[in-house]
Amino acid sequence: MVSHPLTERCDDLSTRLAKSRVDLLEEITPDVERLFNRHMEAPRLWFPHEQINWGEGESFLKRPWSPEDYPLADGVRSSIFVNLLTEDNLPYYTDSILEHSPKGHPIREWTCQWTMEENRHAMVMRDWVHISRCINPTTLEEGRRVQMQKGEVPHPATFAELIAYVSFQERATQIAHRNTGAKLPKDDKIGRNVLALIAGDETKHYLFYRDLTLAAFAIDPSAMMIAVSKQVSTFAMPGTGIPSFTRHAVRIAKEGIYGLGQYLGDVLTPVLALWDIEHLKGLSKEAEIARVELMNVKAKIAESVERMAHKASLIKTSLGASR
Ligand SMILES: [Fe+2]
Ligand SMILES: [Fe+2]
Repeated sequence: MVSHPLTERCDDLSTRLAKSRVDLLEEITPDVERLFNRHMEAPRLWFPHEQINWGEGESFLKRPWSPEDYPLADGVRSSIFVNLLTEDNLPYYTDSILEHSPKGHPIREWTCQWTMEENRHAMVMRDWVHISRCINPTTLEEGRRVQMQKGEVPHPATFAELIAYVSFQERATQIAHRNTGAKLPKDDKIGRNVLALIAGDETKHYLFYRDLTLAAFAIDPSAMMIAVSKQVSTFAMPGTGIPSFTRHAVRIAKEGIYGLGQYLGDVLTPVLALWDIEHLKGLSKEAEIARVELMNVKAKIAESVERMAHKASLIKTSLGASR
């Protein structure tokens, strides 16, 4: 029989779904319900259309965009660009998460709630970007086209890896939005508010996935240790499908918004401490090896961060001496 590419894809998908439906998904059901209920106890019902001062908008056809419209450091512009495009890529993230959200399981309902909340991030950010003229709208739209045509997002292989990955990713996006907002001019109250609202949503998503992963550690510590170790050694901020991503990532790091230092200090360290990675007991041999690897990766990142900080201080000192 000649197999059709679509059939192959579906077969592949069902194999992955079957593999992910090990006991963990079954046993974690009460925790999903508990954390979903906790999330819904304090719903964040903000409206994207209420955040924008529409009267400030101007036609780009009558007056084309120029950087002087909104003077801003390159790194901050890059951050707005990358963060908005990442929010635009939501359909592919939902697809990736749905692979591990079988129908009839409460995780499915949560994934829909999560998608509904995430969807407004790109809406409100784009409205603010266009009205404030803080970044080039043509470059933004071209970037969106290129990125969305690729549909590149990570596809964690199992439910365990998925919740570990999303915990780190939600925390990372929370930090990136928060730090970008802090770099906006003080008088852009709308922009600061928009990014704070998004960061607030990301915080709640992070708390859901972080605590779900904590619950998963209690159910199957060895499987979770292996999953977390794998995700940490391969974790990268989303955005590989964005044109000139590396150039933007370097600028964003230089601006002190998000780089290796923030990944270590604001993401990796607090999250691993909360899961009590270092003191977990009852691990299998394989999981013990994974823990050692995980701690090695963390130590290597810490060394790089220290080296970069040392280099930066040397440059600062030599600049000071030459003045
Ligand atoms: Fe988001
Ligand atoms: Fe998010």
